[in-house]
Amino acid sequence: MRITVIGATGHIGTWLVPRLVRAGHSVVTVSRGDREPYHPSSEWDSVERVTIDRSRAEREGSFGQSITDMEAEAVIDLICFDRASASHLVDALRSQVKHFIHCGTLWVHGVPRTRPYDETAPREPFGEYGIRKAEIENYLLDQSSHGFPATILHPGHITGPGWDPINPAGNLSRNVFERLAYGETVDLPDDGLATLQHVHADDVAQAFELAVAQPHKSIGQSFHVAAREPVTMRSYAETVASWFGHRAHLEFLPWEEWQRDKNARAVELTHDHMTHSPCASIAKAEQILGFKPRYSAVDAVRDALTEM
Ligand SMILES: NC(=O)c1ccc[n+]([C@@H]2O[C@H](COP(=O)([O-])OP(=O)(O)OC[C@H]3O[C@@H](n4cnc5c(N)ncnc54)[C@H](OP(=O)(O)O)[C@@H]3O)[C@@H](O)[C@H]2O)c1
Repeated sequence: MRITVIGATGHIGTWLVPRLVRAGHSVVTVSRGDREPYHPSSEWDSVERVTIDRSRAEREGSFGQSITDMEAEAVIDLICFDRASASHLVDALRSQVKHFIHCGTLWVHGVPRTRPYDETAPREPFGEYGIRKAEIENYLLDQSSHGFPATILHPGHITGPGWDPINPAGNLSRNVFERLAYGETVDLPDDGLATLQHVHADDVAQAFELAVAQPHKSIGQSFHVAAREPVTMRSYAETVASWFGHRAHLEFLPWEEWQRDKNARAVELTHDHMTHSPCASIAKAEQILGFKPRYSAVDAVRDALTEM
């Protein structure tokens, strides 16, 4: 097939584009051209790379037509963050595309009501990002019920070599990994039992590849795409310390106290991850698509830390 991947040189695209090429597809990638994939690979040599700034093209009203002009049978949209953006593209592609795959997020569920939860769990998102992603999913599923061939994949915390993973305190501060590596004390919020659910970027790419290959099974569906099980902050910290030959020295602090000496970004991220405490079932993707994540949550982190 001819496949267009929008937002193709980031975490997911770095792994997805080479997979699609190896599967025999002809791939067109769209990005602003500001960055290269995290790792070079020879498959990119056969890719048609198109430079478009989506935000600007949407403002000018030309984005949908530019994607339509690529005449792809499948379009994978990795960087859609609001409903207007989705509908602009869907309206342009409606009569042409055979499969449209949107990248969502586990955050569409908001605070889990049950653990684990599957794709039928309520959408009760909080925060602008989750709310907008849920609106897009709702819109695409509605369009799908009217014949538009949409699939939605919801990744966990995308992790891999080349960028920093979410750490055991649920934020991006490297200091947490450094302290665990040196056997120093790390404080975790509350009882350290909030959960995190990383997913290796190549496992996310695997799920997109499987969805593309099986439109008859994936159209009209949403799928969770994450490590098979989440990990608690506490056991994650213990595992990281063990990689460096230490027992983790953990201190558990009530939230108000924990946040006192942290920077605003770390507080915001940790709060967001603690509140979502994901525990998503991937059984649907396993059973319908044949998704088999190669990495557990901590294995995905280890792959990223090894390069760090
Ligand atoms: N990160 C996570 O842990 C996580 C978790 C769940 C879901 N998600 C979802 O994953 C998707 C993001 O995928 P990712 O993590 O692979 O993305 P990413 O690493 O942020 O990469 C973004 C890609 O889009 C391109 N891009 C950015 N702005 C653009 C613009 N205005 N016009 C055209 N291209 C643009 C970038 O290249 P240029 O800069 O060169 O344009 C790059 O190729 C989102 O839908 C997000 O909601 C992420």
